[in-house]
Amino acid sequence: MFKSYHKLLLSTVLVAAATSAVAFAGDKSVSHTYANGKKVIDGGVTYPVVNGKRALYYVNEKASKGGFTFGRKPTANEIKAWDIDVMPDGTGLPEGKGTVEEGDAIYEEKCASCHFDFGTGGAGYPALQKGNAYEGQKSLTNQRLGPDDDGPIRVFGTYWPAASTLWWYIKTGMPHPAPMTLTNDEVYALSAYILSINEMTIDGEELDDEYELNKEKFMKIVMPNKDGFEPKIDGPKGLDNARAYFNDFKNYGNGTRCMKNCFEGKPVLARIQGAGISDYQPPISTKRELPPKKEGAGAEHPGKKTYEASCAVCHATDAMGAPAVGDKKAWEAVLKKGLEKVYANAINGLNAMPPKGGTSLDDAKMKEVVDYMVGASK
Ligand code: HEC
Ligand code: HEC
Repeated sequence: MFKSYHKLLLSTVLVAAATSAVAFAGDKSVSHTYANGKKVIDGGVTYPVVNGKRALYYVNEKASKGGFTFGRKPTANEIKAWDIDVMPDGTGLPEGKGTVEEGDAIYEEKCASCHFDFGTGGAGYPALQKGNAYEGQKSLTNQRLGPDDDGPIRVFGTYWPAASTLWWYIKTGMPHPAPMTLTNDEVYALSAYILSINEMTIDGEELDDEYELNKEKFMKIVMPNKDGFEPKIDGPKGLDNARAYFNDFKNYGNGTRCMKNCFEGKPVLARIQGAGISDYQPPISTKRELPPKKEGAGAEHPGKKTYEASCAVCHATDAMGAPAVGDKKAWEAVLKKGLEKVYANAINGLNAMPPKGGTSLDDAKMKEVVDYMVGASK
């Protein structure tokens, strides 16, 4: 009964998310545009698609078989909005504030449909608390061993070594269908709520409903499992710690190096009996020379460098549906439409081929690069 109610609720939420734009009310430094009548970062949240349907991602309707059917370049504003660095110790957290109570309300509205009431998780969605963070359990010192019933359960409160990950994760990843739609204050409020349901304290203080979390207080959070990760790779002893850890076979699987039929004695270098350098067909060469240059290949084509930097990512093989440079047949087919048309297609884009290959090269340079590609495919 409880579960099916949630399933129903979940599908309603997903449909709602898929059919309505979500307002972005993030950082003031990022400018907004309007999509579907709602304010969003550069239209980054929903896009109108055909037949009145909308999707989270822009659908490239011009794309056809053999290429990508979705995706586009992010805009400068989108990159700016996503470019959030929050370090483990909290460096990089923006200013902001929010109370447990506010977080509770946002949680009910935007998170409970998947993560269930009080973050208990279920139906494949991760729990955000198990309520056992402070029950004095030994920490998970060895992540390679199997699940340990007596060890802490791997959820935020018991497992994560740094609280800042929570802030960053919610800000950039949640709610799952509409990431980047929460304000910084909302993320602080949600973090406060999640800390409270994990029964955590900050600076000895319990997080009751009125507790207001902000950047300064966030920096003081100490996670219960902060020292539980092995090997300890931070600090000047990091390398030695890592070596010692990986040299001790007790840290792996069942703690022994070999299972059965183990080799005992001294290892000797194996040699293939009787095989000398002249026994290979064709014989192995001992000369250290580059293969002879093809005629006329002395001077590098002026388009080659640009090709390698900007086009080879798609054109080195045909994996992306692009004519591969060097594939004579493919380019013969391309050139059937005439070189001028091919220039124009390279400049204006064609199906999954982005205009100018996604570069800002001028037309003359584009033609030069196409000339190189054509020449290298004869
Ligand atoms: C539509 C379902 C959905 C909604 C709504 C949703 N989440 Fe999630 N959340 C997920 C899924 C799925 C994962 C696991 C993602 C993964 O592991 O790749 C997840 C993971 C998380 C995690 C990491 C948990 C862990 O231990 O790895 C946190 C924290 C989180 N969500 C917080 C939130 C918050 C806060 C909200 C509300 C603002 C929210 N989620 C809304 C589906 C959802
Ligand atoms: C994101 C991948 C991608 C990049 C980057 C890319 N291309 Fe393409 N290109 C394609 C695909 C896919 C096609 C095949 C399009 C088709 O025929 O539907 C193509 C086709 C072409 C064609 C043939 C056009 C025709 O008329 O058939 C030329 C010429 C070309 N690309 C030049 C370039 C140049 C020059 C660059 C670099 C400045 C470049 N491409 C970068 C994917 C790419």
